[in-house]
Amino acid sequence: MSGSVESLTEAEAAAELARLAEAIAAADIAYHQNDAPEVTDAEYDAWRQRNAAIEARFPHLILQDSPSRAAPGAAPAAGFAKARHGVPMLSLDNVFGPEDFADFSARIRRFLGLAEDAPLGFMAEPKIDGLSISLTYEQGVFTRGATRGDGAEGEDVTANLLTIAGLPRRLPAPFPALIEVRGEVYLDKADFLAFQATQAALLAGGRRVVVPANPRNAAAGSLRQKDPAVTATRPLKLFAYAMGALEGALPVATHGAWLALLTAWGFAVNPRSQAVTAETAPDYQAALAAERAGLPYDIDGVVYKLDDLSLQARLGFVGRAPRWAVAWKFPAEQATTVLTEIQIQVGRTGALTPRAVMEPVNVGGVLVRHATLHNEDEIARLDVRIGDTVVIQRAGDVIPQVVEVVLAKRPEGATPWTPPTTCPACGSHAIRPPDEVVRRCTGGLICPAQALERLIHFCGRRTMDIEGLGAENLERLFAEGLVRTPADIFRLGRHRDTLLSWDGWGERKVDNLLAAIDARRAPPLERFLFALGIRRIGEQNAKLLARHYHSLAEWRAAMIAARIIGSEAREALGSIQGIGPAIAEELVEFFAEDQNLAALDDLAREITPAAAEAGDASGALAGKTVVFTGSLSGMTRDEAGAIAERLGAKVAKSVSAKTHYLVVGADAGSKAAKATALGVTVLDEAAFRALAGA
Ligand code: IVH
Repeated sequence: MSGSVESLTEAEAAAELARLAEAIAAADIAYHQNDAPEVTDAEYDAWRQRNAAIEARFPHLILQDSPSRAAPGAAPAAGFAKARHGVPMLSLDNVFGPEDFADFSARIRRFLGLAEDAPLGFMAEPKIDGLSISLTYEQGVFTRGATRGDGAEGEDVTANLLTIAGLPRRLPAPFPALIEVRGEVYLDKADFLAFQATQAALLAGGRRVVVPANPRNAAAGSLRQKDPAVTATRPLKLFAYAMGALEGALPVATHGAWLALLTAWGFAVNPRSQAVTAETAPDYQAALAAERAGLPYDIDGVVYKLDDLSLQARLGFVGRAPRWAVAWKFPAEQATTVLTEIQIQVGRTGALTPRAVMEPVNVGGVLVRHATLHNEDEIARLDVRIGDTVVIQRAGDVIPQVVEVVLAKRPEGATPWTPPTTCPACGSHAIRPPDEVVRRCTGGLICPAQALERLIHFCGRRTMDIEGLGAENLERLFAEGLVRTPADIFRLGRHRDTLLSWDGWGERKVDNLLAAIDARRAPPLERFLFALGIRRIGEQNAKLLARHYHSLAEWRAAMIAARIIGSEAREALGSIQGIGPAIAEELVEFFAEDQNLAALDDLAREITPAAAEAGDASGALAGKTVVFTGSLSGMTRDEAGAIAERLGAKVAKSVSAKTHYLVVGADAGSKAAKATALGVTVLDEAAFRALAGA
């Protein structure tokens, strides 16, 4: 993904937008759902910028699912009710040093018309990087708790919040008619590390769980559980610090008094909250920075709030942040250690990600042994080598990043790192397609790192649609070793007794499951091809392949023949309308892996995909190979191709001796001449319509 946007042709732009959409979506999933980033933030931002630049030049090519249409990482709406906040939940402006903070105080004085040296009182509060929530109390009773969401509307997570022991259910009188109490839900460092280790062990055992990268993600994930019993097992804590909507009066004139009232009501208020002045704030900042590593929870700075509430009211807000408060952030915590190994982890989608193994070092109170290296380009950029002394940094995440190499300490003879060419989990080829940053394992069907995810896809609604084989049951069958490959599913009958011995697996359940499996022994070819989970072979492409090759046997033979570059089978594959060279490449890579072929054949012994309907086998177009060129007047070439395919024709992109018909529209290029030379029948649009009855 390089070269100037100005020089792109329309076709190149379209191809690149598709590639960028896929790469950005994959990166979003890796980052937000799996908490395992595969690319650096800089690369990710560069992709989004390039996507935007191409879209600006070719607005008509903007994809329906373009990354520019969705907010990055927007979480999919889960099964929670929406909760509108009485008063929006805003954010804070950041400052990073004493000068910034002095500017902030000066702005306040200027706005209020105070003298340059007028005293200003603030409350300083440690800024915990957790999840902000809003708790509504009506007539003193806790009635609703919500996440921040977009600030105006969050998700109603009341049931989950009720599992937090420190959350007051009732306020002691006197209380206002209605009040929104705002605060932060978080996990202590030690609790987070224990939870992370538990999740990692479950994942290693084949369970489909998320291993959170930081306490914030862990807290967010815990609060968004569908089952409050699960949330109850997570040791979530709460600090209260702000007010939202209020109906009625409160006997407080300062933020300090408000914090005291919260304490009297039974809320936990951070014990390090303290009154400071504009002049003493830097001392507080330095003192807390020194304490930071020893605190039981992660903090990323200090929030300073003007103490006098009437002054807060006069100052109000600019944009989405108050004029009367600011977050003074700490620099990321850094440490120096020696890198002893570069390990390769294989993700559930086959992505190979390198990570640094280091001599254990304490970074901000957390002992770390691993750092993420993101990808090969990042390793090359850092030029990090085994034995190097490296500076690492923790920015919120417990897994730190390698910032730089201390070249002066490089051991003699250290050599640049070379990426692996095989997958460490299964030994299949690991390939990095041109224009992509991620190297991937091609052993889709056999790689243990990908197996469970593949099985879940294989059995899904839109693929083999096997009733009773959802993620949860597959997880168990996988963990117990009964199902490791798709073919194993169809041999599950041999384990009927084992299944019957499992808790909750009665005769009816087991026999229903086995019957549901048997009912899928002759799936439509297109579903079967989609179910294989070959990269880029989604529903649509599987359909195109099934229509073109008609049977599993024919497809298999053609794919094996297509392994040879320049072969007729390879050309034919690449010229199927809608397939194209990049997809052909993925298919060839899949078949280049003998183990994939063995797994496919194993599966073919168990089931027989039904040949795809060949369309109207009697019509003039049945079994014919048709090529379209030039622009048609009454329909697009894609539409015409679809009509031809429905009538049993194969649609190809280039003319060869095997072509039966060339359909020419306006402004046709050289194909007509080639067709004539090869003796191929040339049809105009009207003749094609007549033949197709369209
Ligand atoms: S006050 C209008 N106080 O920081 C004031 N926020 O960057 C809104 N946070 O979304 C927030 N500790 O999640 C406030 N003592 C504290 C805080 C705090 C952590 C978080 C909060 C907020 C974010 C703003």
